[in-house]
Amino acid sequence: MKEAFIDKHLAVTIRDTEIPIPDANQVLIRVVVSGSNPKDWKMPAHWPADGTPTNQGDDIAGYVEAVGDGVVGFRKGDKVAAFHQVMMPHGSWAEYAIANSHATFHLPEETSFEEAATIPLAAMTAALGLYQQLNLPLPWNPTNESIPLVIYGGATAVGAFAIKFAQLSNIHPLIVVAGRGRAFVETIINSDKGDVIIDYRDGDEAVRENIKAAAGNKPIHYAFDAVSEKGSYENIGETMTAPGQLLLVLPGVQYKKDGIVNRLAIAGSIHFPPTEEKTISEMEFGAAFLQLMGRGLSQGWFSGHPFEVRPGGLAGIQDAMSDLRDGKVSALKYVFRIGETVGVEHES
Ligand SMILES: NC(=O)c1ccc[n+]([C@@H]2O[C@H](COP(=O)([O-])OP(=O)(O)OC[C@H]3O[C@@H](n4cnc5c(N)ncnc54)[C@H](OP(=O)(O)O)[C@@H]3O)[C@@H](O)[C@H]2O)c1
Repeated sequence: MKEAFIDKHLAVTIRDTEIPIPDANQVLIRVVVSGSNPKDWKMPAHWPADGTPTNQGDDIAGYVEAVGDGVVGFRKGDKVAAFHQVMMPHGSWAEYAIANSHATFHLPEETSFEEAATIPLAAMTAALGLYQQLNLPLPWNPTNESIPLVIYGGATAVGAFAIKFAQLSNIHPLIVVAGRGRAFVETIINSDKGDVIIDYRDGDEAVRENIKAAAGNKPIHYAFDAVSEKGSYENIGETMTAPGQLLLVLPGVQYKKDGIVNRLAIAGSIHFPPTEEKTISEMEFGAAFLQLMGRGLSQGWFSGHPFEVRPGGLAGIQDAMSDLRDGKVSALKYVFRIGETVGVEHES
């Protein structure tokens, strides 16, 4: 099969590799569309000079090809999306990929593979952040109280999914920071319930003032920072009232030790899918939430992120990674149709 590997310099090579065999509790998926994420270029950029190129793709949309021992609920031919286990082999930048069965969910007929490939990693990050770390009310137990929530980076995929989940949980007012993606964010907030957009391009002072004004005289105790750089958490920190819960998304960053950020209870960065070291609760949460997303797609109360199909299938990954690194993306995800790759026979 064809499989793409990215190196430290973000050069992508396509190689012929063996189709993997699913282990127990794993699913082998024929990938129709793969997604991409900022980590796909950020992780290789941190490797040592002799770091081995890897297939970084984590967002899978396609058809079940085979299942490992112990898998129930999936069989060959099922239309699915899945969250590939980060940093493990056999990711989605290939004709066939491996996912854990608990991180796989059925797709309705009407959902496109392109839309589905925008969902798993970004939406799961949003869900884990909102519900497992900020401990906000779950969608099946929506709140009746006013809970001001800052979502910094509302046009990021993670931030946009956080907005969608917050709507399901009836969390308002949402105080959403965005810029070029403002028009998109307007389509997913609810201004009737007090949600507002604040433009980061107006500068830090204006952002801080506008966040405070948007909350009125209510204290802000919760913030989801889907940017976690470029002054975002300093701006948030200036506007929150202790005891604050601030969710940051960049692991490994030395967040400032002094100042207001340190005085707040920082929930910390998040990781998924769980490995052996992770807790059962994270794994079960992930399993439950991915099924919920599939149900939301089929019932129409959940949707993927806007996307752009990069031409050439796997051959489109290299330029897409450069564009992601250069900050060209606004309010969309880059996805790849594997069937467009030279040498791949499957059309869809
Ligand atoms: N820890 C984890 O497990 C985890 C998981 C997933 C993602 N992440 C991290 O979370 C971040 C978001 O990921 P993503 O995939 O959602 O990113 P993305 O969709 O590629 O983000 C692109 C968006 O960033 C927005 N942006 C850039 N600078 C901004 C600023 N100063 N203020 C507000 N928005 C700004 C832009 O908004 P406009 O278009 O409005 O200008 C653009 O639409 C990335 O840093 C990623 O590495 C972490």
